[in-house]
Amino acid sequence: MQPTDKVRRFYDAMPCERPGRITLSTPWLERCAAPGPPPIRAGARALVAGCGTGSEAMDLRRLGMEVVGIDISARSIERARALSDEVTWIHGDLQHLDQHDALGPFDLVLCHAVADYVPDSAALLRGMADTLTPHGLILLSTNTPHHPRQRLLDAWRALGGENEWHSTDEERARLDGLGDVLGPHSGIGNLRTMTDDIVRMDLFPPLAHHRSAEQWCALAADVGLHLRGDRHIRDLVLAHPDPSVFGGLPLTTISTVAQALVAPPSSMLLFAREPAPVLALSGESQLVTTASVPVGAIPPAEGPWDESRSLHMVDSGVTRELRLTTLGLEMLRLCDGRHTLGDLGERLKVDWRQVEGELIRMLYADLLHPVGALTP
Ligand SMILES: C[S@@+](CC[C@H](N)C(=O)[O-])C[C@H]1O[C@@H](n2cnc3c(N)ncnc32)[C@H](O)[C@@H]1O
Repeated sequence: MQPTDKVRRFYDAMPCERPGRITLSTPWLERCAAPGPPPIRAGARALVAGCGTGSEAMDLRRLGMEVVGIDISARSIERARALSDEVTWIHGDLQHLDQHDALGPFDLVLCHAVADYVPDSAALLRGMADTLTPHGLILLSTNTPHHPRQRLLDAWRALGGENEWHSTDEERARLDGLGDVLGPHSGIGNLRTMTDDIVRMDLFPPLAHHRSAEQWCALAADVGLHLRGDRHIRDLVLAHPDPSVFGGLPLTTISTVAQALVAPPSSMLLFAREPAPVLALSGESQLVTTASVPVGAIPPAEGPWDESRSLHMVDSGVTRELRLTTLGLEMLRLCDGRHTLGDLGERLKVDWRQVEGELIRMLYADLLHPVGALTP
C-alpha cells in the first residue's frame, strides 16, 4: 500500500477532531507579514491544507475570511461539509494542489500538523507556494525529530516493529514491555494505561517523516520560499482553551513538556515568496516562557535529569542560561504516569481546582530557573 493511501485509510477510520485548537497567533503573523497586508483579516483568503474535520477552517471563517479547506480523507471532508457551506471543502491530495489552482491565490496557507504525513515534501511546498499572493504567507507546523514519539518509534523498530499498530496480543505485550524499559521520563506516557485507540492515534499514526526545522527550510528554499518567522513550540499541550482540563493531565504530559523545554518537539515556520529579515520572536505563550531559539542551538534531550542540565535560549538578542529547578526535578521524578496534577497540588499544598491555570503557570515558571545572560 502506498504511504498516502495508508494516511487516507487511517484518517477515514479516525477523522482528526480537535475542536478549539489554538494554532494561530495573530499578532505574530501580522508582524511577520509586514510590510504586506495582514494575512488574517476579514475578506482575506485562506487555504487550510489538511483541514481534517474543519475546526481551523471554521475559526478563520468566523474572522470573516474566505476559506477553502482540503483534505485527503473523504470522511473528514464529509464531516466538515456538515459544519458549514460558507467554506469551500475539497476532497484532494496536497501533493497535487495544481489540480485545484483555480481556487487561489491565497493570503494565508495554514498547514498545521499535516506536513509530516505527506511523503513528497517538495510537491507539498511547491503546490502551496504556487497558490500564494505576492504578500501571502504559509504557516507550516511540523514535529521535529525531537518529538517523544520518534524515540518510541526508534525503539519499537529496533524490536522489529512497524510504524503501524495492529493491536495483536503479542504486539501489545511488546509495547507494554517497551514502555517499562523506556521508563517514566520517556515523555511518552505510561503505555500500559493507554487504550489501543490512543496508541494507534497518538503513537503510531502513519507519519512519513519527522524533519528538523533546518530540513524544512532547505526544502522550502528549493521551491523559492523564504523563511519569515520561526517559533519553536513548547506549549501545544498547554494551549488548551479549557483550563480545567489541565487538572486531569497525567504528569507524564508535564514530563513531555519539560523535555520540550530542552528540545522543542514541534516547530512553527512561516514562509513567504519575498525575501525579508527573519523576525526574532519571543514570549507569546501564556503558560510557558517561550523564546526564539536559533535552529540547532538546543542540545538533544539525552542523559540524566539533574541540576547540571542547562539550556541556552536566545531571547531579544541575549543568550540566557537556564537550569532545572528543584521543583522542576521533583516534577520530573513524579512523572511515572500514575500521578496527576491533583497529586502534585496535594504535595505542594495547593488545591489546583481553585487555582487552575495559576498553578500551572506557577509550576512552569518555576520549572526552569534563569541563571543569567551569557552573551549580548
Ligand atoms: C493530524 S490531522 C491535522 C488536521 C488539522 N490541520 C488540525 O490540526 O486539527 C492531519 C490531517 O492531514 C490530512 N492529510 C494527510 N496527508 C494529506 C495529503 N497528502 N493531502 C491532504 N490531506 C492530507 C489527514 O487526512 C488529516 O486530516
